[in-house]
Amino acid sequence: MKHRTMNNYGGIIHGGDYNPDQWLDRPEILEEDLLLMKKAKVNCVSLGIFAWGHLEPEEGKYDFGWLEKIIQRLYENDIYTILATPTGAMPQWLTSKYEEVLQVNEYGVRNYPGKRHNYCPSSPVMREKTRQLDTCLAEKFGAHPGVIGWHISNEIGGNGGDSSCHCAYCQDAFRTWLKDRYGSLDQLNATWWTSFWSHTYTDWDQIKSPSPRGEDLVHGQNLDWKRFVDSQLLDFCKEEIKAVRRHSSLPVTTNMMEFFKSLNYFKWAKELDIVSWDSYPDWHSGADELQTAAQAAAAHSLMRSLKKSSFLLMESTPSVVNWRQVNRLKRPGMHELSSLQAVACGSDSVQYFQWRKGRGSSEKYHGAVVDHRNGDDTRVFREVTKLGERLEKIASKVIGTCNRPRIAMVFDWENWWAMEDAKAVDNNLNYQTVFLDFFRPLWELGVDVDMVDMEGELELYSVVVAPLNYMYKKGYVEKVRAFVKQGGCYITTCWSGEVDDSDLTYTGAHPLEDVLGIRTEEIDVPDGYCENSVRYQGADYRITGLCGLVHAKGAEVLAEYQQDFYRGYPALTRNTYGSGEAYYIASLNEQSFLKDFYSEILNGKGLGCGLQVRLTQGVTVNERSKPVGENGETEKVWFLQNFNREAEVVELLERYENVETGETLSGKIELQSFECVVLTGNKREDYFEK
Ligand code: GLA
Ligand code: ZN
Repeated sequence: MKHRTMNNYGGIIHGGDYNPDQWLDRPEILEEDLLLMKKAKVNCVSLGIFAWGHLEPEEGKYDFGWLEKIIQRLYENDIYTILATPTGAMPQWLTSKYEEVLQVNEYGVRNYPGKRHNYCPSSPVMREKTRQLDTCLAEKFGAHPGVIGWHISNEIGGNGGDSSCHCAYCQDAFRTWLKDRYGSLDQLNATWWTSFWSHTYTDWDQIKSPSPRGEDLVHGQNLDWKRFVDSQLLDFCKEEIKAVRRHSSLPVTTNMMEFFKSLNYFKWAKELDIVSWDSYPDWHSGADELQTAAQAAAAHSLMRSLKKSSFLLMESTPSVVNWRQVNRLKRPGMHELSSLQAVACGSDSVQYFQWRKGRGSSEKYHGAVVDHRNGDDTRVFREVTKLGERLEKIASKVIGTCNRPRIAMVFDWENWWAMEDAKAVDNNLNYQTVFLDFFRPLWELGVDVDMVDMEGELELYSVVVAPLNYMYKKGYVEKVRAFVKQGGCYITTCWSGEVDDSDLTYTGAHPLEDVLGIRTEEIDVPDGYCENSVRYQGADYRITGLCGLVHAKGAEVLAEYQQDFYRGYPALTRNTYGSGEAYYIASLNEQSFLKDFYSEILNGKGLGCGLQVRLTQGVTVNERSKPVGENGETEKVWFLQNFNREAEVVELLERYENVETGETLSGKIELQSFECVVLTGNKREDYFEK
């Protein structure tokens, strides 16, 4: 489905979760909210996310009057509504009357009522009650001019990280799913390698969900369960989408949670009109902000990549969260920078959780735009207002643009699930961490990166970086081969091409041996036993993780191990194949290795940062553009961001215009700590040409 937009009024969406249902007995608060929202340049709120209890106070009895009044009052004040379906949390009458809507955990124990994000996606009652309510909501509000889109449920599956339900309905559905996938038990047994420990299944009914009380060591079974849990939740979400679409043509989204392991968001995005997500970076937690910033950039980039389109930042905190052990305030400036970073990476909104702090329960101290006291006279309110003003100033240059990287990284959920269950050389191996290690140097170089899964289109890019592609999904090998043959540059690492998509190891040669020009043999993790390093272009780089032992088989050796019995083995190889080339990085090395290696490759291909600038550590760039005219010309806007805790001087090598002030900038410019400058135009500076 094509990307659609919610910002039909042309601006950058600014606002957030609004929970007036907690204040229905205080009409003066709701009136005050309107005044304050106007003041803070809020133009949109997300409504009704946890309002099931107020929308359907008794089974089958709907009360939408209060919501209608609020949507209308907001609209009269030019504030639009993204309306939620309220399945994020269930009302008491539902959970006490129909126990089956409550999940059963992996020990077979059914939850008590309460909390949220924890319905059983297979329960017929849950599906029916949801369908009825969603249909009525869509009928009532689907054409309201103040409503601009649907927010399906909330952070689906986000029940403390475990999204699975092990009830009888889910077990049945799992078996049906397996029958569809395998057709016969023989096929299932062969794929799951069940002769191991004599666990061959002889009846479909013997198959249960993985559990610490029973079977959780059959890798194929674990993997299929993860696939099933994901697809069952998605199926529930699709039912919700279907219900609202019956009466409404508004675009649909659901708020995602960055690299959330249980849900394959590439699949989910196909069902949505717009991708949105909730971003809560752990600012001010390390020696500097760079790791956090790179991680946030990676997550934003993932969200943009899911539909190759701009997305919505659906939640963020304007000040502080309350769910980490220690919750620090965002330092002055960080709110602006962190929000503009989202826009820089492709967001068309900055939304908060939440507008006003509640007085009770577990989120009463979570940051919000409006605090328990002091109204608009707070640092947070002022910072939010200032950001709102800035978003208004840059909107016309930003809306309609998107980041268009030439580099992609392969990130694949099924690979993630299989790899971290591999029981192999390094059981601490964390896919996301290693992936981020490979992303961060590109982010530091000011180069935008897309993410694709193994089903994605590699041919849209010039360079594809594929760290730890442990599993090769069906068709992937052929795709990589074609990509390189046609001139692509493919960069991969050790611990790739180990298993097929049934999680069965390949036998014989590495499936991409011809493309990579190497023969792979053993793999080591010299953790604590001995230090090792690789020498590349005369410099030594420390090894920080896996070491693949490979032999060149046609490939050129660009770096070698320096110690231990594999001293002299290739650590980095390059092979030409068709009109392209393939690099194999045999070991996981310290960051500076990748930065140097990437710089070499990108410089060779003219793929560096699009803004002509000499960056310093901690200052980076994202580029959004849109086509103008017919000659492939684009109009570009750059976000130059300083994540350092101090001011920093960078040098612009061409002349640019500050979008907000109209000022021309060139040469050395000082960026304040946590400052983000939005730039456009690039007339060549005379002094630079000399
Ligand atoms: C999530 C939820 C919100 C709220 C915030 C708090 O993102 O979607 O309802 O609980 O966390 O950070
Ligand atoms: Zn269930």
